[in-house]
Amino acid sequence: MKTRITELFGIQHPIIQGGMHYVGFAELAAAVSNAGGLGIITALTQKTAADLAKEIARCREMTDKPFGVNLTFLPTVHAPDYPAYISAIIEGGVKIVETAGRNPQEHLPRLKAAGIKVIHKCTSVRHSLKAEAIGCDAVSVDGFECGGHPGEDDIPNMILLPRAAEELKIPFVASGGMADARSLVASLALGADGINMGTRFIATQEAPVHENVKRAIVAASELDTRLVMRPLRNTERVLVNPAVERLLEKEASLGQNIKFEDIIEEVAGVYPKIMKEGKTDAGVWSCGMVAGLIHDIPSCKELIDRIMSDAEAIIRQRLTGMLG
Ligand SMILES: Cc1cc2nc3c(=O)[nH]c(=O)nc-3n(C[C@H](O)[C@H](O)[C@H](O)COP(=O)(O)O)c2cc1C
Repeated sequence: MKTRITELFGIQHPIIQGGMHYVGFAELAAAVSNAGGLGIITALTQKTAADLAKEIARCREMTDKPFGVNLTFLPTVHAPDYPAYISAIIEGGVKIVETAGRNPQEHLPRLKAAGIKVIHKCTSVRHSLKAEAIGCDAVSVDGFECGGHPGEDDIPNMILLPRAAEELKIPFVASGGMADARSLVASLALGADGINMGTRFIATQEAPVHENVKRAIVAASELDTRLVMRPLRNTERVLVNPAVERLLEKEASLGQNIKFEDIIEEVAGVYPKIMKEGKTDAGVWSCGMVAGLIHDIPSCKELIDRIMSDAEAIIRQRLTGMLG
């Protein structure tokens, strides 16, 4: 399949694996890229820029296909050393960066000067237009369904994607709620040039996370996510568990007075315990509503091949058949 996204990134299939904290290691990125999609290493999971440089080198040993690095600009006062991470990306010869969180404008000149293509992840049409205006090459439009941070507008992809298509000139991928060929074909119909998946890629053979995490996603239904941290305007969609219930009780009792310190136990530093040790109740962790559509743990190649062949069948048989 050829779209503006496959052309832009030089990939075979219009399927991207979004950056994921403590999931987006070289093993997963390489597996997705080897399967013809675009794998992405998550920069901030690496404690230092030197660690990121090693992770990029490790990924390059596992694939000769294009892969990217995610740079998440967090809403924090103690910012990570982004310029050093960017140096590791440039020196590692990575040609694709997925930015997310805050506006990436101040870092764009260095990335662009190094010939890097930038895809910015946004949760609204206005942020997508801003990304286009500041020179991003593409955007990843993340609907309300998504795992992780859906923003504060709560617009689902059935509306957000065609709205983005109405306004944007640069290519965009649909993100949030994407699981299979139906998602891909629907996204293309709504105006996107491909899909970005997070939660679906966690439940794959190569995702370097504990089996408990994969099993929790397969076991979950579309009813099992919750939104946390809304009073802090840092809304996150997570899989429900006792830590999430505890956090939501604190939000209900403290109301608008709640501070980050009040929920630190449920939120801070919990990812290694969950993703590596498999203690899935150790804190809150991102997961999309799409868990309801995830019923197996295939290899990345099986998953991507299945999406592409089923998409062809939907387009050639089901849809074309309807035209009579
Ligand atoms: C466990 C997990 C961790 C994530 N961590 C990040 C992150 O560090 N940076 C980022 O930009 N997006 C992060 N995301 C969001 C994904 O890249 C992607 O946009 C999102 O999962 C898409 O929605 P889906 O889960 O419905 O596919 C994370 C998602 C999950 C499920």
